[in-house]
Amino acid sequence: MSSTAGKAKRLRDAHANQTVADAVRPGKKETIVGSDFVAAEPIKWPVQCTIGRGLQDAIACETQIGFVNGARGILSYRGYDIFDLCAQSTFEEVSFLIINGYLPSADELKQYKETVASLRPLPRTLRALGALPIEKMTPMAALRVGIATLRQVVTDVDTQSPDPSHSIDTDADTVPDVTPDSNEDLEVDRAIPATTTLGRKDAYRLVAGMATIVAAIARLRKGLLPVEPRPDLSHAANLLYMITGTVPDEQQARIMDIALIVHGDHGMNASTFAAMVVASTLSDLYASVESGVGALSGPLHGGANEQVLYTLESIGSPEKVKEWFKEARAKKKRIMGFGHRVYRTYDPRAKVLKPLAEIVTQNDPELSTLFATAQALEHEVIEELGDTKNIFPNVDFYSGMIYKALGVEPAMFTPVFAVSRVAGWVARCLEYVKDNRIFRPRAIYTGETSRQYVPLERRGSTPKGA
Ligand code: SDX
Repeated sequence: MSSTAGKAKRLRDAHANQTVADAVRPGKKETIVGSDFVAAEPIKWPVQCTIGRGLQDAIACETQIGFVNGARGILSYRGYDIFDLCAQSTFEEVSFLIINGYLPSADELKQYKETVASLRPLPRTLRALGALPIEKMTPMAALRVGIATLRQVVTDVDTQSPDPSHSIDTDADTVPDVTPDSNEDLEVDRAIPATTTLGRKDAYRLVAGMATIVAAIARLRKGLLPVEPRPDLSHAANLLYMITGTVPDEQQARIMDIALIVHGDHGMNASTFAAMVVASTLSDLYASVESGVGALSGPLHGGANEQVLYTLESIGSPEKVKEWFKEARAKKKRIMGFGHRVYRTYDPRAKVLKPLAEIVTQNDPELSTLFATAQALEHEVIEELGDTKNIFPNVDFYSGMIYKALGVEPAMFTPVFAVSRVAGWVARCLEYVKDNRIFRPRAIYTGETSRQYVPLERRGSTPKGA
């Protein structure tokens, strides 16, 4: 038996009984978010901050939703450490936490699950989506259309002439939290003009519907009919069921559940900021989420996990990693799945996902070779770039092989990211508009000044360098 096959077999045997819970047990967390972590005092505007290009380190607002400490690899949602949430919570509970700020009681969680389950079926939205050439669209472009379609179907705000008694006083910046808390008030949303559709009911609808729309796109692009969600399945299990048409086993569902938890929120990343900018104009929550999807479509933000998979497949085996890495460094290539604008150490989300990737790939020779190749690449990158450039695996390095093992095709990896991040997008929009101020940064003008207008007939050829 070759050394690789022997190693793969030993991996399989060693981990055959490892449970997912064991893989993410709270003891795994390297950092303690507790007594030594003190939240900042409320901001007294204006603040001084040194801003890099791309608003790096710019302070845009306060938040109580998520905390990222890049130096120490800490991530917490509403003060709960990501390792504790992955080991003990579920995406349903975590999305409730991110949006509402506290862990729900048993009754609240039951009510929330029932609400999300009732909002998951989107027959009218999917019928409209199915009329489009989804197979000719990139999945993220289709997702933007899907969210816009959802907005039209459920809020019909554009057919409502804004009722002055509802409209926002144009001098007011802040939106009162007008959302009804229970299902039967759903109709009330319809009467609210767009500017105040920043309600919790729409937030829940977007969390529920994102999974349904993503799964429908995954099937429509292959010429398959969408699969109706099942009220008896969890959010994660429904996502896999609606994508693959097969009910996942308990371990598969739990691994997807944890993958959704780690992607729930992550500070002022580009897609969250994009969503918040739109919300700050008092547009509606659907437009904000569409903008988040648009930002996530960019390869510097979304899609790295898909590229990681192609990289690992092109390398082919752990033995070929050294040679590949040497060539990549010579060409100054960016290694997908590594590095991060904030984390200067191992991304805690990669720490959670790595053992899950090992579990979910161990019984498939092709996938276990992928995992072994990833481990070898991780070793090479950290050895050369870890200390010198603070380059470590980020959330995208192991997530792709997990999704592939769970039956999700690579083109759908970024939409699956949105299935989870929609919780952070809507939560941060709802939080920001409560003390709203439209985002309006500055640009320093370095262009021409005082130029005299030249009529067309007296203009020569195009000026050089124009
Ligand atoms: C996400 O913001 C978020 O929180 C995003 C996210 C979220 O949850 O929302 O975490 C999700 O976007 C994860 C990142 C997924 N993207 C990738 O894995 C793509 C590969 N990574 C890189 O493109 C890069 O690391 C970024 C874009 C993620 C971060 O880049 P930075 O912080 O802007 O770093 P930089 O461009 O200033 O680079 C600093 C140095 C450079 O070398 P020098 O020019 O100083 O010699 O580090 C090098 C870079 O060349 N570098 C890398 C590298 N990333 C940075 N070198 C090799 N491989 C890499 N991946």
